Amino acid sequence: MGLFNFGGKKNSSVVGIDIGVSSIKVVQLRKRKGVAVLETYGEIALGPYSDIKLGVGQSTNLPAVKIAEAVTDLIREANVTTTRAGISIPFSSSLVSLISLPALDKSKLASMIPLEARKYIPVPISEVMLDWFIVPGEEKQTPVSSPEAKEGKKTPPAGAAKRIEVLLVAIHNSTLNKYNEIVQATKLDVGFFEIEIFSTIRAVIEQSVTPVMVLDMGSANTKLYIVEYGVVKASHVISSGGQDITQTLSKSLSISVSKAEELKRDFGVSDAGLNKDADTINSKEIISSGLDRIFNEASKVLMQYQKKHNKNISNVILTGGGATLKGILPLAKNHFEVEVSMSNPFTKVESPAFFEKVLKEIGPEFAVAVGLALRQLQEEG
Ligand SMILES: Nc1ncnc2c1ncn2[C@@H]1O[C@H](COP(=O)(O)OP(=O)(O)OP(=O)(O)O)[C@@H](O)[C@H]1O
Ligand SMILES: [Mg+2]
Repeated sequence: MGLFNFGGKKNSSVVGIDIGVSSIKVVQLRKRKGVAVLETYGEIALGPYSDIKLGVGQSTNLPAVKIAEAVTDLIREANVTTTRAGISIPFSSSLVSLISLPALDKSKLASMIPLEARKYIPVPISEVMLDWFIVPGEEKQTPVSSPEAKEGKKTPPAGAAKRIEVLLVAIHNSTLNKYNEIVQATKLDVGFFEIEIFSTIRAVIEQSVTPVMVLDMGSANTKLYIVEYGVVKASHVISSGGQDITQTLSKSLSISVSKAEELKRDFGVSDAGLNKDADTINSKEIISSGLDRIFNEASKVLMQYQKKHNKNISNVILTGGGATLKGILPLAKNHFEVEVSMSNPFTKVESPAFFEKVLKEIGPEFAVAVGLALRQLQEEG
């Protein structure tokens, strides 16, 4: 089993399993007449599996056996009927770097990359599983200040080396061991592990010639990726997420964390349904300021990227459970100078029409799981 290898039989169901810090999500798909069809989906909170029982929405750091237990429970509860799975690996357990190398043939690159990687990976190369692929269409001429170049001749001067961009991906062996333990304990037939960014990209981004920014609003963190031609060009982690908003609500209003989580989910930052109760009025302000912090940091990263690369980012896509907060979209639109949209991963799969509304609402939370299941289907042909 590797990051980029797979195998399998045709025409059977597949399941994408997204193990987040606060909950696990599954999406089961099947291919019918060349189309991906949704069979089932589900989610289970991880808080209750931790020793100090945490509430829904809170982030955990569980050992493999506990995660395996939760996966098994979720598979049963969501009526997942296949063992053929793709599993995501947290972005935080990976190192993704875009590096520039001379345009050599693949075998030369293969021996050069582990050496090059030492510059980018802060642990011994023997401790990581390394993978890489060449970014398409990025061959560049290195400017060389030769006399020919100065004279403006069109032919490349001798010594001008073509460069390519290579996406380098490293995952620590201890992470892979943990995931292999989960797989063994759950008896899943896992085709691949994929870093969650790549699953998200597959599920939420349409072909776009201009860069887009994806904001994955999780529990402890908000992950931000800038994607161009399907390739991650930059990434950033904002150390604040849905959990922080809930905890601030709980402290400010002197209510339990579970009550705060409920209040947040019931009202969010929308005025709809807001009653005159002081708590709900204050909660809107508290949630808004939590979101302000996240959006301000994201906006800074966006502007820095635009300036550095002299390119406009066309769109910000909100995804992750935190993006399902009621009323979040208009608030986000106020923060960014570019268009903001909500991810809607279930549009990539076929489902009964009466499901559409609910799938649109919960979609952002399931983006990673949808992306994983889509890849598993593609790979099975
Ligand atoms: N309806 C909702 N309204 C507001 N917030 C919500 C809603 N549903 C979930 N959340 C919040 O989303 C967060 C969890 O998001 P998500 O499931 O994407 O995180 P995760 O995948 O477990 O985390 P990570 O990706 O960092 O591992 C929680 O903080 C939760 O409070
Ligand atoms: Mg997540």
